[in-house]
Amino acid sequence: MRQGPQSPKEAAAFVVGIFRSRAWEWQAQRSGSPLVGFDTDEGRRDPYPIHEHVRALGRVVPGMPGFAATADYELCHDLVRRRDFGVRDPHTDVVHGAVYQGNSIDRSILGLNPPDHTRLRRLAAHGFSPKQLASYEVAIEKRVQDLLDAVEGRGSFDLVHAYAAPLPIGVISDLLGLPDADVAAFEKYGQTLASILDGITSLNHARRGATASFRVERILERLFELRRTDPRDDLVSSLVAAEKEGQLTPRELLAMCQLLLVAGFETTVNLISNAVLALHRTPGAWERLVDDPGLAALAVEETLRYDPPVQRTIRAAFEDTTLGGHPIPRSTWVVALIGGANRDPGVFEAPAEFRIDRYADAATPAHLAFSGGAHYCIGAPLARLEATVALRALAERVPQLRVVGEPTMRPSTTVRGPASLPVGVR
Ligand code: HEM
Repeated sequence: MRQGPQSPKEAAAFVVGIFRSRAWEWQAQRSGSPLVGFDTDEGRRDPYPIHEHVRALGRVVPGMPGFAATADYELCHDLVRRRDFGVRDPHTDVVHGAVYQGNSIDRSILGLNPPDHTRLRRLAAHGFSPKQLASYEVAIEKRVQDLLDAVEGRGSFDLVHAYAAPLPIGVISDLLGLPDADVAAFEKYGQTLASILDGITSLNHARRGATASFRVERILERLFELRRTDPRDDLVSSLVAAEKEGQLTPRELLAMCQLLLVAGFETTVNLISNAVLALHRTPGAWERLVDDPGLAALAVEETLRYDPPVQRTIRAAFEDTTLGGHPIPRSTWVVALIGGANRDPGVFEAPAEFRIDRYADAATPAHLAFSGGAHYCIGAPLARLEATVALRALAERVPQLRVVGEPTMRPSTTVRGPASLPVGVR
């Protein structure tokens, strides 16, 4: 049940995908679309002026042929909920507007429309019930304290590598119930897999991605075998039982776990790092958290609005339609600029300000960091819990924390956060 290219046809699609991706970049550059700005050093450092520019151009802005974008809160909110738009274009089978096809994410719930999506999402929900969540909390607390023990006494460290990244990686390994012996390899290859989420950048990248995919599959297959013979009260056990009953295919089982791995690795790390950055760049905010670590959950919520780790998502129109009165021809991909919607001045007061207690006011509109509708992030409660525990513990145990130096940002335009964040402890 290898998941990578499995036939000459799939292998050809894989290679064609890489070249289409190059052609797509070239076309994007030539189109004059303002979205091209996101893919520059400046755009990665601060994408918010580009979001503002898109909004100033109109509620729906045409991009390169076949694409449009919106940074308007109301339209983004509607777009992800509309049933006449989807993550897979039924006319072309293209997923997420992607130029690269054939990766396992395409076959996961993130790349499927109802009814397949509905069937698989129901099966995944087992891992995210309030009961399961409560059971993860103790493990999260322990991991956080262990990570802080490890940096204790150091004058400086990299917050991403020492703290923000290992936490979600450990948590997702716990959630999947990986045997300890497999955790290190899972982490190593999982990070490579996660890096292809934003597209394959070169043949070498594709080769490393294929190797990582193969290794992760082997680890997961061993895990599935283990849970078939020795089931527990956990997500993987319930998924392999469902597979046995024919409720999901072996490929869907694998794709589901690979998605959880990538989602668990690449998002919460940025939420923690973006929160620390915002708290330190906003005068007095870190001190407020240190004075009252109970503000951590609110700080997390405001970070999700102010600097969301997933900056955009995308939907295809199933038929000719309109969005906010703008005609949208069938098969057009509309980019929902989450980062822009979350700073829509028509919805949020002083949107460019990070206000640690903004969400203490129950009337504050919900941000779109976790999208909405059928694909609303299934891991949202877990991500909130991890980030809250992580921030609270940081404020309690390392109150003198200071950001020293500029962060290096991740090279992605979808996933936003620092690749490294040097911090000092005075
Ligand atoms: C701060 C952390 C996170 C952010 C910002 C985030 C964001 C998102 C967004 C925006 C989507 C929807 C994409 C769309 O509408 O097209 C999504 C879906 C999803 N997320 Fe998250 N996520 C986070 C953490 C997690 C974690 C920790 C997990 C699991 C361990 C997870 C699992 C998933 C899954 C399985 C989906 C697909 C849901 C579906 O298609 O039905 N996420 N996430």
